[in-house]
Amino acid sequence: MKFFIDTANVEEIKKANEMGIICGVTTNPSLIAKEGRDFKEVIKEITTIVDGPISGEVKATTTKAEDIIKEAREIANINPNIVVKIPITADGLKAVNVLSKEGIKTNVTLIFNSTQALFAAKAGATYVSPFLGRLDDIATPGINLIEEISEIFRNYDISTEIICASIRSPLHIAQCALAGGDIATVPYKVIEQCIKHPLTDIGIEKFRKDSE
Ligand code: E4P
Repeated sequence: MKFFIDTANVEEIKKANEMGIICGVTTNPSLIAKEGRDFKEVIKEITTIVDGPISGEVKATTTKAEDIIKEAREIANINPNIVVKIPITADGLKAVNVLSKEGIKTNVTLIFNSTQALFAAKAGATYVSPFLGRLDDIATPGINLIEEISEIFRNYDISTEIICASIRSPLHIAQCALAGGDIATVPYKVIEQCIKHPLTDIGIEKFRKDSE
Protein backbone atom coordinates (compact mmCIF):
# COMPACT_ATOMS: atom_id res chain seq x y z
CA MET A 1 0.00 0.00 0.00
CA LYS A 2 1.21 3.50 -0.82
CA PHE A 3 0.68 6.61 1.30
CA PHE A 4 0.03 10.15 0.21
CA ILE A 5 -0.33 13.08 2.58
CA ASP A 6 -3.62 14.96 2.48
CA THR A 7 -2.63 18.57 3.10
CA ALA A 8 -1.46 21.78 1.42
CA ASN A 9 0.77 22.66 4.38
CA VAL A 10 4.36 22.51 3.16
CA GLU A 11 5.85 22.06 6.64
CA GLU A 12 3.70 18.96 7.22
CA ILE A 13 4.62 17.67 3.76
CA LYS A 14 8.35 18.15 4.49
CA LYS A 15 8.09 16.30 7.83
CA ALA A 16 6.19 13.33 6.35
CA ASN A 17 8.53 13.21 3.35
CA GLU A 18 11.62 13.16 5.58
CA MET A 19 10.20 10.13 7.41
CA GLY A 20 10.07 8.30 4.07
CA ILE A 21 6.41 7.43 4.50
CA ILE A 22 4.75 9.26 1.66
CA CYS A 23 5.19 9.16 -2.09
CA GLY A 24 2.50 11.67 -3.11
CA VAL A 25 0.27 14.54 -1.99
CA THR A 26 -3.41 15.34 -2.33
CA THR A 27 -4.95 18.75 -1.89
CA ASN A 28 -8.46 20.09 -2.28
CA PRO A 29 -9.93 23.62 -2.38
CA SER A 30 -10.60 23.56 1.40
CA LEU A 31 -7.02 22.52 2.21
CA ILE A 32 -5.61 25.24 -0.09
CA ALA A 33 -7.93 27.88 1.43
CA LYS A 34 -6.73 26.86 4.93
CA GLU A 35 -3.18 27.88 3.96
CA GLY A 36 -4.33 31.29 2.65
CA ARG A 37 -1.88 31.04 -0.26
CA ASP A 38 -2.12 31.20 -4.04
CA PHE A 39 -3.06 27.79 -5.52
CA LYS A 40 -0.33 27.64 -8.20
CA GLU A 41 2.36 28.90 -5.84
CA VAL A 42 1.59 26.20 -3.22
CA ILE A 43 1.33 23.40 -5.77
CA LYS A 44 4.61 24.47 -7.35
CA GLU A 45 6.33 24.48 -3.96
CA ILE A 46 4.94 21.02 -3.15
CA THR A 47 6.44 19.66 -6.38
CA THR A 48 9.88 20.74 -5.14
CA ILE A 49 9.42 18.69 -1.95
CA VAL A 50 7.83 15.42 -3.11
CA ASP A 51 8.83 13.61 -6.29
CA GLY A 52 5.54 11.82 -6.87
CA PRO A 53 1.90 12.39 -7.81
CA ILE A 54 0.59 15.74 -6.54
CA SER A 55 -3.17 16.26 -6.84
CA GLY A 56 -4.41 19.79 -7.48
CA GLU A 57 -8.15 20.28 -7.86
CA VAL A 58 -9.97 22.39 -10.45
CA LYS A 59 -11.90 25.33 -8.95
CA ALA A 60 -15.32 24.39 -7.56
CA THR A 61 -16.76 27.14 -9.76
CA THR A 62 -15.46 25.46 -12.93
CA THR A 63 -18.29 23.14 -13.89
CA LYS A 64 -18.55 22.94 -17.70
CA ALA A 65 -16.48 20.25 -19.44
CA GLU A 66 -14.67 22.69 -21.76
CA ASP A 67 -13.75 24.94 -18.82
CA ILE A 68 -12.59 21.97 -16.72
CA ILE A 69 -10.41 20.81 -19.64
CA LYS A 70 -8.87 24.27 -20.07
CA GLU A 71 -8.15 24.68 -16.37
CA ALA A 72 -6.87 21.09 -16.06
CA ARG A 73 -4.36 21.67 -18.86
CA GLU A 74 -3.07 24.76 -17.02
CA ILE A 75 -2.76 22.86 -13.72
CA ALA A 76 -1.04 19.92 -15.45
CA ASN A 77 1.44 22.33 -17.00
CA ILE A 78 2.83 23.24 -13.57
CA ASN A 79 4.86 20.02 -13.35
CA PRO A 80 4.91 16.52 -14.91
CA ASN A 81 3.98 15.02 -11.51
CA ILE A 82 0.68 16.89 -11.36
CA VAL A 83 -2.56 14.95 -11.19
CA VAL A 84 -5.67 17.00 -11.86
CA LYS A 85 -8.43 16.37 -9.36
CA ILE A 86 -11.93 16.59 -10.81
CA PRO A 87 -15.23 16.05 -8.97
CA ILE A 88 -17.46 13.34 -10.44
CA THR A 89 -20.17 14.92 -12.59
CA ALA A 90 -21.22 14.27 -16.21
CA ASP A 91 -19.08 17.23 -17.33
CA GLY A 92 -16.24 16.04 -15.11
CA LEU A 93 -16.23 12.61 -16.77
CA LYS A 94 -16.34 14.21 -20.23
CA ALA A 95 -13.26 16.21 -19.26
CA VAL A 96 -11.49 13.14 -17.84
CA ASN A 97 -12.11 11.29 -21.10
CA VAL A 98 -10.47 14.08 -23.13
CA LEU A 99 -7.62 14.67 -20.68
CA SER A 100 -6.71 10.98 -20.35
CA LYS A 101 -6.26 10.80 -24.13
CA GLU A 102 -3.83 13.73 -23.87
CA GLY A 103 -1.84 11.84 -21.22
CA ILE A 104 -2.97 14.15 -18.39
CA LYS A 105 -3.37 12.23 -15.15
CA THR A 106 -6.65 12.66 -13.28
CA ASN A 107 -8.00 11.92 -9.82
CA VAL A 108 -11.79 11.71 -9.84
CA THR A 109 -12.94 12.87 -6.45
CA LEU A 110 -16.01 12.96 -4.20
CA ILE A 111 -16.75 9.30 -4.89
CA PHE A 112 -19.48 7.93 -2.63
CA ASN A 113 -20.60 4.77 -4.43
CA SER A 114 -18.94 2.05 -6.46
CA THR A 115 -20.71 2.82 -9.74
CA GLN A 116 -19.29 6.35 -9.64
CA ALA A 117 -15.84 4.76 -9.26
CA LEU A 118 -16.47 2.31 -12.10
CA PHE A 119 -17.66 5.07 -14.46
CA ALA A 120 -14.68 7.26 -13.56
CA ALA A 121 -12.36 4.35 -14.38
CA LYS A 122 -14.14 3.77 -17.70
CA ALA A 123 -13.71 7.47 -18.54
CA GLY A 124 -9.95 7.04 -18.10
CA ALA A 125 -9.28 8.25 -14.54
CA THR A 126 -5.80 7.50 -13.25
CA TYR A 127 -7.13 7.52 -9.67
CA VAL A 128 -10.49 7.54 -7.92
CA SER A 129 -10.95 9.02 -4.45
CA PRO A 130 -13.70 7.39 -2.38
CA PHE A 131 -14.33 9.40 0.84
CA LEU A 132 -14.76 6.95 3.69
CA GLY A 133 -14.73 9.39 6.62
CA ARG A 134 -17.60 11.45 5.24
CA LEU A 135 -19.67 8.27 4.86
CA ASP A 136 -18.86 7.25 8.44
CA ASP A 137 -20.01 10.74 9.46
CA ILE A 138 -23.51 9.90 8.25
CA ALA A 139 -23.55 6.47 9.90
CA THR A 140 -22.75 4.57 6.68
CA PRO A 141 -19.66 2.34 6.93
CA GLY A 142 -17.21 3.94 4.50
CA ILE A 143 -14.95 0.91 4.46
CA ASN A 144 -17.65 -1.11 2.63
CA LEU A 145 -17.20 1.27 -0.29
CA ILE A 146 -13.44 0.63 -0.45
CA GLU A 147 -14.05 -3.14 -0.33
CA GLU A 148 -16.65 -2.93 -3.11
CA ILE A 149 -14.53 -0.80 -5.44
CA SER A 150 -11.48 -3.02 -4.84
CA GLU A 151 -13.47 -6.12 -5.72
CA ILE A 152 -14.99 -4.58 -8.85
CA PHE A 153 -11.62 -3.28 -10.10
CA ARG A 154 -10.06 -6.70 -9.43
CA ASN A 155 -12.89 -8.48 -11.30
CA TYR A 156 -12.23 -6.50 -14.45
CA ASP A 157 -8.46 -5.90 -14.16
CA ILE A 158 -9.04 -2.15 -13.98
CA SER A 159 -5.76 -0.28 -13.60
CA THR A 160 -7.27 2.89 -12.07
CA GLU A 161 -5.84 3.17 -8.56
CA ILE A 162 -8.01 3.64 -5.47
CA ILE A 163 -6.98 6.52 -3.23
CA CYS A 164 -8.74 5.96 0.10
CA ALA A 165 -9.62 9.52 1.10
CA SER A 166 -11.27 11.31 4.00
CA ILE A 167 -9.17 9.24 6.40
CA ARG A 168 -9.83 10.19 10.00
CA SER A 169 -7.97 7.62 12.13
CA PRO A 170 -5.25 4.93 12.19
CA LEU A 171 -8.05 2.35 12.20
CA HIS A 172 -9.19 3.64 8.80
CA ILE A 173 -5.72 2.97 7.41
CA ALA A 174 -5.61 -0.62 8.67
CA GLN A 175 -9.12 -1.19 7.32
CA CYS A 176 -8.20 0.27 3.91
CA ALA A 177 -5.09 -1.92 3.71
CA LEU A 178 -7.20 -5.01 4.45
CA ALA A 179 -9.85 -3.90 1.93
CA GLY A 180 -7.27 -3.66 -0.88
CA GLY A 181 -7.04 0.13 -1.30
CA ASP A 182 -3.99 1.02 -3.41
CA ILE A 183 -3.23 4.27 -1.62
CA ALA A 184 -4.36 6.01 1.56
CA THR A 185 -4.14 9.78 1.62
CA VAL A 186 -3.60 10.70 5.22
CA PRO A 187 -3.72 14.01 7.15
CA TYR A 188 -0.51 14.75 9.09
CA LYS A 189 -2.31 14.43 12.44
CA VAL A 190 -3.30 10.84 11.58
CA ILE A 191 0.27 10.04 10.47
CA GLU A 192 1.42 11.11 13.95
CA GLN A 193 -1.33 9.04 15.59
CA CYS A 194 -0.26 5.97 13.59
CA ILE A 195 3.31 6.16 14.87
CA LYS A 196 2.35 6.47 18.53
CA HIS A 197 1.43 3.67 20.91
CA PRO A 198 1.21 3.97 24.72
CA LEU A 199 3.20 0.73 25.17
CA THR A 200 5.96 2.15 22.95
CA ASP A 201 6.14 5.24 25.19
CA ILE A 202 6.20 3.06 28.33
CA GLY A 203 8.89 0.83 26.77
CA ILE A 204 11.08 3.79 25.80
CA GLU A 205 10.74 5.25 29.30
CA LYS A 206 11.67 1.90 30.92
CA PHE A 207 14.72 1.50 28.64
CA ARG A 208 15.74 5.09 29.41
CA LYS A 209 15.52 4.50 33.18
CA ASP A 210 17.33 1.13 32.99
CA SER A 211 20.14 2.54 30.90
CA GLU A 212 20.77 5.32 33.44
C1 E4P B 1 -8.64 14.00 -0.44
O1 E4P B 1 -8.48 13.71 -1.58
C2 E4P B 1 -9.93 14.54 0.07
O2 E4P B 1 -10.17 15.79 -0.48
C3 E4P B 1 -9.89 14.59 1.57
O3 E4P B 1 -9.35 13.38 2.05
C4 E4P B 1 -11.22 14.88 2.21
O4 E4P B 1 -11.11 14.72 3.59
P1 E4P B 1 -12.21 15.27 4.60
O5 E4P B 1 -13.47 14.51 4.38
O6 E4P B 1 -11.63 15.02 5.96
O7 E4P B 1 -12.37 16.73 4.31
